[in-house]
Amino acid sequence: MKDIIQRLFLHKPLRHDEFVTLLDSNSEELRTELADKACSVRSSVFGKDIYIRGLIEFTNYCKNNCYYCGIRAGNSNAVRYRLEMNDILSCCENGHSLGFRTFVLQGGEDPYYTDDVMVEIVSAISKKYPDCAITLSIGEKSRESYKRLFDAGADRYLLREETSDEEHYKRLHPDNMSFNNRMECLRNLKEIGYQVGCGFMVGSPYQTHDNLASDLCFIQEFRPHMVGIGPYITHADTPFADMNNGTLEDTLLLISILRLMDPELLLPATTSLGTIHPLGREMGIKAGANVVMPNLSPVGVRKQYMLYDNKICTGEEAAECVGCMDRRMEAIGYKVVTSRGDSPRL
Ligand code: 5AD
Ligand code: FES
Repeated sequence: MKDIIQRLFLHKPLRHDEFVTLLDSNSEELRTELADKACSVRSSVFGKDIYIRGLIEFTNYCKNNCYYCGIRAGNSNAVRYRLEMNDILSCCENGHSLGFRTFVLQGGEDPYYTDDVMVEIVSAISKKYPDCAITLSIGEKSRESYKRLFDAGADRYLLREETSDEEHYKRLHPDNMSFNNRMECLRNLKEIGYQVGCGFMVGSPYQTHDNLASDLCFIQEFRPHMVGIGPYITHADTPFADMNNGTLEDTLLLISILRLMDPELLLPATTSLGTIHPLGREMGIKAGANVVMPNLSPVGVRKQYMLYDNKICTGEEAAECVGCMDRRMEAIGYKVVTSRGDSPRL
């Protein structure tokens, strides 16, 4: 164990079985040891800076039926909405005046937004806000589509693999979804030149430490610029309604491991982490995360982008997530900065 931790502290690659050993040994003592080192490693690259991204959830229509997700096509209780280009541009305008220099356009896989429509939206944002980075999180597309969006001005792309184990992938997704295609998408995005974010849910149904170790091995080899992880949280209108949530403790340990594996990684303290514990995002930062992504979506639609039950930042009180995030970060000794926050590895 000592030897594994030693090599992790030196950012040396670990083997699959070594990751399993680490995960099996999760304890408060281990979490504290890794978090301390993760924070000092992060400080040496990023200081006390926390990057902020404005998340615009622009459609909750989705053609997919992932078993874990609240906006799956099969959930007939979901009230659907789409934002038009002008609504999206208003969100950006609001965000820009609040200091955001990254906009994350996230949505379900919604055929309404054809490549032409998305190119138009991305071009408009890029033209109006040349000082901002545009991140897309709109699922699986062909290499050609990804390239068109990149050429239109998109800089970054978030596509979680969800799990790096094909068998596990099949238990989370219906037969018409393909693990190999998802991995192919990630490779294409990277080759095209995007800053790429992958990631997975912690404690998703049927997940084992063996599966999580496969995720860490995949990330070690793929070297993404960003990794988004958060606990799985059940949604009552899905086939997984009776499954258990992922834990805070597993998520925090994994955040520290990821930071130690790659000191330059962009690593968000996610909304789902803030949902399972009121101070989850703060704990994520203290474990080694360095990004927060407050919601910039119009307050009127936020409750409809319910990926899981009890998602935070969806009420009227959340109109000012930005100020809230500033205060939260300052309270734990960090500083939200308004730069684009590109990967140091560019
Ligand atoms: N709990 C936690 N995270 C979820 N996501 C989707 N459904 C859930 C859930 N029930 C995550 C997926 C997806 C991202 C946008 O949200 O990892 O990639
Ligand atoms: Fe959204 Fe605090 S960050 S209400």
